[in-house]
Amino acid sequence: MARKVILKSKTPLKVGEKWICRCGLSKKWNEEDPQPFCDGSHKKFSDEDESKVFTYNENLEVISVE
Ligand code: FES
Repeated sequence: MARKVILKSKTPLKVGEKWICRCGLSKKWNEEDPQPFCDGSHKKFSDEDESKVFTYNENLEVISVE
């Protein structure tokens, strides 16, 4: 099953001493480390065109732009 979720935030949210990923691109969002902590991946995509929707694969490669 696949699910398409559109996230618009480009920055993490600080909760206490933790930074929570809001961009959906963190590699810390997996089965071994299920807490969605920011790993800095959002910085690589800060120049995305905000009028478009980017779809990534599990290797953070863009697979489509709408
Ligand atoms: S907010 Fe997602 S990796 Fe930082």
